[in-house]
This record gives sequence, structure tokens and C-alpha cells, in this order.
Amino acid sequence: MDKKIFVTHQLPGERIHDLGQMCDMNVWMGPGLLPGGALREEVSECQGLLCLLTDAVDKKLLDSLPNLEFVSSMSTGVDHIDVAALTERGIPLGHTPGVLVDATANAAFALLLSAARRVVEADRYIRQGNWRNDNAWSPEFFTGKDVTGATIGIIGLGAIGQAVAKRAASFGMHVLGFNRSERDVPGVENVSLQELLLRSDFVSVHVPLTAQTRNLLNAERIASMKPGAVLVNTARGGIVDEPALAKALAAGDLYAAGIDVFAIEPVEPDNPLLALPNVVVAPHIGSATTRTRVRMADLAVDNVIAALHGQPMPFCVNPEVYN
Ligand code: DGY
Repeated sequence: MDKKIFVTHQLPGERIHDLGQMCDMNVWMGPGLLPGGALREEVSECQGLLCLLTDAVDKKLLDSLPNLEFVSSMSTGVDHIDVAALTERGIPLGHTPGVLVDATANAAFALLLSAARRVVEADRYIRQGNWRNDNAWSPEFFTGKDVTGATIGIIGLGAIGQAVAKRAASFGMHVLGFNRSERDVPGVENVSLQELLLRSDFVSVHVPLTAQTRNLLNAERIASMKPGAVLVNTARGGIVDEPALAKALAAGDLYAAGIDVFAIEPVEPDNPLLALPNVVVAPHIGSATTRTRVRMADLAVDNVIAALHGQPMPFCVNPEVYN
């Protein structure tokens, strides 16, 4: 009998159609995202789940899904999933690393440049009708922060962190890096997190959200950042203490921030970061290019296809389940 798979959203690309020929596949057709409470019912009869980063897969859900044999997430980050609970149950978890490296590094740089050069503020200025003859141009008009010649500190020297380092070097920046287990990356000076925060004019976050990195940039560490620095976060919101960041930005201790990810998504309207003109925000779009999203979907499907064939997933978060 065909295995039953539930897919929590329509996916881009062609590979998903191949999967439809190989199993009994049910896809959530919307409107919108699958409501949190609906996942249990939809997956209860299924052997496989293909989900997004918006689908919480926790212990309670897993306890109610005795038939579940594998999970594949169309994401690199898996902080929405209780990996330990899956591993305990011998359930492999697939994810989609690698294919979003350049898109995410480019997004980090877009936020960095926008925050440094006040691009969004300038855009608002024009649209609000403020650019008039009496205020057309002056030596200090919309001056920002230099990127070339500045020091950037990259927290997390995985593939995305290294891709940001490359971009930073080509912009003439000095690059500092901090990684939990030290990594030698050409052109990157390894330093402690403390030193990185103290010396960097720009800080870009590229670690996954785990128990160890939750609130890594807490109030104390934010207060230890170089005065006038810019923080860029395209990793996960939970890594940064948002109220503390907002306070430092409002006080002028930090120059600006570029934020693509929030502790609660969609971001709540009263998040203090949204009230600040020196914060450039985006709705978790680091990997959002058409080609990248197709490649992510294809990888997520490849993980499912391998599992259907009883083979190890090509991109498995917990390969120990195969031992
Ligand atoms: C991921 O895959 O974890 C990214 O956050 C998606 O942009």
C-alpha cells in the first residue's frame, strides 16, 4: 500500500509532482498557512510529513502521531522542530542546507548597506513629500556610516557566515569571526565573542537558534558592542534580545540595525524595533529568491523520496537514527 504523506503548503518546482506519483500525497491548499491546531489531524494517518519553518513539530504532536516515520522541513533551520524527540523515536529529519547560502548572505548585505546608508529612511523621506527645494541637498544631507574600511564581526562561521565574510572582504572591510569551535577561514581573524562585539562596527549573526544560542546577544552583550555599531540579523529572532536592542538603538548607543527575523513571527505591531527610524526590517526573506526557494523545495522532496525508498535522507539533521 502507498505510504501517506502530508505536505503543509503548496511547493514551487517540479520535483513535488514526481513525489505525488510515488505515494498517497495530501497537500494543504490554504488559504494561508496551515493553522497550528490542524497539523495533528492532517498527519494522524501519515507516515511522512513535509513541513515549513512555520509548522511547530513538538513532543506533544509527536506523541499523537504513532504512524509517523519521517519528517522533512523545507528549511535549513530546524528550531521549529523538537529534534531530540524525533531522534528518540528513531524518526529521521531532513532539511535543506547549502542552497540558500548566497541568497541569505546577499540579504544580510542588503540589510547592512541599507542600515548603514539609510536607504529605507531616504525612501520614506521622498515618498512623504519632504524632499523640497528648500531642502534639496547639503553637505550633511542623509550622511550615513562608511562600510569600506570598517570592521565587521561575523557570529557563526558556517557556510552563510563565510559567504558574508567574502562579500565583506570585497567591500574592503576588515573581518572578525567568532565560531563556537574555532574555524580557519581565509581573511577572517578569529576572536572571542566579547572581542568581536567590542571591536566591530558591524555585527552580522549567522548561528542557528538552539538552547545554546537563544538570547546569545542579551542586554549585557548588546551593551558591550562598540558605540555606533550596526547589528544585522538574518538568522533567528530568538538569538537577540529585541527590547534590549531597541533600547540601545533609541538611546543612540548603536547606529542602526537590519533585521530579517523576529522572536515572534509575524512580528507583533507593538515590537519596539518597528517604532525606530534607524531599523530596517524585512519579513524573514533571507532566502526568498525564486530559484533558491525552488531548490529548497526540491531538496525537501529529495529527502522524502529517499525516506520512501527506505534510504538515508541526503540532508539529514539526525543521521544517528540510521545506526
Ligand atoms: C531557513 O531555511 O532556515 C531560513 O530561515 C529560510 O529563509
